[in-house]
Amino acid sequence: MNLKGRSFLTLKDYSPEEISYLLDLAAELKAKKKQGITGNSLKGKNIALIFEKPSTRTRCAFTIGCIDEGGHAEYLGKDDIQLGYKESVEDTARVLGRMFDGIEFRGFSQENVEKLAKYSGVPVWNGLTDTYHPTQILADFLTMREHLGGLKGKKLVFVGDGRNNMANSLMIGSAKMGVHFTILAPKELWPEETLVETCKEYAKESGSVITISEDLAEVKDADAVYTDVWCSMGEEDKAAERVALLRPYQVNEELLERTGKKDTIFLHCLPAVKGNEVTAEVFERFADVVFDEAENRMHTIKAVMVATLGEYER
Ligand code: CP
Ligand code: NVA
Repeated sequence: MNLKGRSFLTLKDYSPEEISYLLDLAAELKAKKKQGITGNSLKGKNIALIFEKPSTRTRCAFTIGCIDEGGHAEYLGKDDIQLGYKESVEDTARVLGRMFDGIEFRGFSQENVEKLAKYSGVPVWNGLTDTYHPTQILADFLTMREHLGGLKGKKLVFVGDGRNNMANSLMIGSAKMGVHFTILAPKELWPEETLVETCKEYAKESGSVITISEDLAEVKDADAVYTDVWCSMGEEDKAAERVALLRPYQVNEELLERTGKKDTIFLHCLPAVKGNEVTAEVFERFADVVFDEAENRMHTIKAVMVATLGEYER
């Protein structure tokens, strides 16, 4: 599989085979790291990490993943560069493309990460926008493979803000990979109809079933229950409104009971607001899974960089 030179902007751009390849590569790099083996596949490569929004996992995953493979990572925070206000995205992209071999972008606009890719001429990786968070899905799927033994035919239920970057990207990834995917959310927070239709088209190929519902009974038979914050970064002013809308959609022991299964796992991309989208009790019961998921950000992001930029023989 040759992904050399490709950007990673949304999972829409990747085939199921390519997603599987990235997951296999991540598992391989993870196993090696556990044995103390790191590589040199990014030797001589410099990568820029642009962060308009804060981050713990994504920033650290790109930094450590890059250093583990012999590359150099340079952090450019929101006060360090003037992206989009004193310098156009197109111009910053062309400058960074002359100096760096790859660029990670976390920020608000999906359009901007796409512009960076178009104008820089180097691989650009989406570290989260308002619309998508594709690298997170690779970590979630690696964790599901590890804890559930596979992806195809598993039922993943996302409960909460059903139109945020996580819900959107999980729906795309699930539809591509044959994971049955359900969003449980109030109608006001359902995903855009056009995206649901696109995912239903992918699902025809993979055999996955996509369901959007307000009815918590649809959690039945879930192999994994997923939630995320009720207010994403940049939406802090919506806190009161979201709490009122989403209170019934909290992941608690009562909701997990409704799966009718004993071995359902709980997933969360983190950071978590315990007492809102998940109770502290559920969170702690599944802490091992959730922190495997957080660790897997590093192995999967490393795999994306190695596959699109590195010199690596499998
Ligand atoms: N899950 C995730 O993207 O975490 P950070 O915001 O800490 O990067
Ligand atoms: N939906 C969250 C995800 C954080 C990883 C946000 O955008 O803030």
